[in-house]
Amino acid sequence: MARFVKLATLGDLPVGSAREYEFEGRIYALFNVDGVVSAIDGVCPHQGGPLADGEIEGTSVICPWHGWRFDVRTGSTPMGPRIKHPVYAVRVENDDILVEVP
Ligand code: FES
Repeated sequence: MARFVKLATLGDLPVGSAREYEFEGRIYALFNVDGVVSAIDGVCPHQGGPLADGEIEGTSVICPWHGWRFDVRTGSTPMGPRIKHPVYAVRVENDDILVEVP
């Protein structure tokens, strides 16, 4: 059953930054774009690149390994509609960043 768990604090994730977190064997990439925190699966579906290490352009992250691009808020990619990267709901409560994990 999905539930919200604390993965980070706003202090860990300043505006413009990204970080990777592991929880129960799953890798999450958290982004703070213009003060909006979002969370996606941290593993690139192409060949497993670390998306939290990618360059951020607007609301997109560019995988550091081969350049696939994902919107960090929707999981969509210009690679086409057949690839939909997992996105996880985020709640910010005071300084805590809570992510809805499966
Ligand atoms: S592993 Fe991400 S683009 Fe290849």
